[in-house]
Amino acid sequence: MSMEAVTHAVNVRLGDDRNSVVILDQTLLPNETRYLTLSTAEELWQAIYLLQVRGAPAIGIFAGYSMAVLARNIEAEDFASFRAEYFRLSAYLNSSRPTAVNLAHMLKRMEKVVDAHSEAPRAELIEALFTEAKAIHDEDIAMCRKISEYGLSLLKDGDGVITHCNAGPIATSRYGTAQGPFYLAKEKGMDIHVFVDETRPLLQGARLTSYELTKAGVDCTLICDNMASIVMKQGKVQAVFFGCDRIARNGDVANKIGSSGLAVLAHYYGIPVYSLGPSTTIDFNCPSGDHIPIEERPHSEIKELFYEKPMALPETKCYNPAFDVTDHTLLTGIVTERGIAYAPFEESFRKLFPEEMAK
Ligand code: MRU
Repeated sequence: MSMEAVTHAVNVRLGDDRNSVVILDQTLLPNETRYLTLSTAEELWQAIYLLQVRGAPAIGIFAGYSMAVLARNIEAEDFASFRAEYFRLSAYLNSSRPTAVNLAHMLKRMEKVVDAHSEAPRAELIEALFTEAKAIHDEDIAMCRKISEYGLSLLKDGDGVITHCNAGPIATSRYGTAQGPFYLAKEKGMDIHVFVDETRPLLQGARLTSYELTKAGVDCTLICDNMASIVMKQGKVQAVFFGCDRIARNGDVANKIGSSGLAVLAHYYGIPVYSLGPSTTIDFNCPSGDHIPIEERPHSEIKELFYEKPMALPETKCYNPAFDVTDHTLLTGIVTERGIAYAPFEESFRKLFPEEMAK
C-alpha cells in the first residue's frame, strides 16, 4: 500500500445516492476491509456506539452527513414539525457516545443550519445541510494537515515517540492528528521511530495505528500498554503524542483510557507530553476535566472480546471507563490547527481562539 493510500484513505463519505453514509468498518481491521452503507437512524446510531466509525473528528464528520441524509427523509407538513423531528433525531445520535465533544459540536452546527432556513423552501434547507456536512469534512482535512505540521515541528531526526489509541487518518480525515506528524516525517525522509501502545481493551493501537503506520512504511513497534515504562526508562522515547476527545478550557484533556497513565509515566521520566487535536475538540464551555462525561462500556470488552475463551469468571466485577482525563499540569503542550498552546493553557487558548474563549 502506498503512503498516500493510507493518508488519504476514505473512512466516511456520503453515499452516491445521497441517501446513505458509507463508512469503513473499523471493527474489522486489520483483517478485513469492509465498507458499510447506512441509512436509518438506528444504523447510524449503532455505527457510532459499536465503534464501526470512531475517533472524535471522524464521528463529527459522520454526524454531519448522517443528519443531512436523515433530514432528507423527514416527512413533515410544515417547518415546525420538520424541526421537531430533526432535533429529535439529532438528540438521538448525540446519545450514542458522550465523551468526544465533536459529535455534539457538529450536531449543533447542523441544527443552526436548520434554524437559519425556517423560511426557506424545504429543498433549499436540505441542500444547505449537505453543503454544511461537506464543509465540516473539508475543514477537518485542512485542520489535520496544519496539526500534523505543527506536531512535526516538535520532532527531530532520530526521535522516538510513543503514541496511544488511534488518531490517524481513519479516525479523522487525511493524515490524522496525533499520528499525522509521523506520516509527514516519513514523507520528508526524517528518521522517527514510533512506539504504538496496543491500547487495551479495544486495541485501537494494535488493530488500527500499527496497521496504518506499517502499511505506510512508517518505522513502528507495537508494545503492550504496560511496556511504556521500560521503553521510556531505556531512553527510547523523546516525546508522547496522543489525541483528544474533549479539551477543557483549563487544558485538561480527555482521551482514550490509558492516556493519563502514559502522561504520568512521562512526567516521571522527564519526557514531554503533547495532545494533538482540532479546535472542534475544545469544549469552550467546559471549565475543567471534572466536568467531562466519561463513557463506560460493556464489561465483555474486558473479559471476552478478542479472546478465544472468556478470561474472567462471568460473576467477576469489572469497570470499563473508555476515557480518562490527563491533568493539564502533565501536558507540555496542546497542538491545534492554529498553533501550539502552552501553560497556562487558558491564556494560550485566549490568544489562539479569542472569539471562542470570549463567548
Ligand atoms: O473510543 P475511541 O476509539 O473512539 O477513542 C478515540 C480516541 O481516544 C482518540 O485518541 C481521539 O478520538 C482522537 S482521534 C483523532
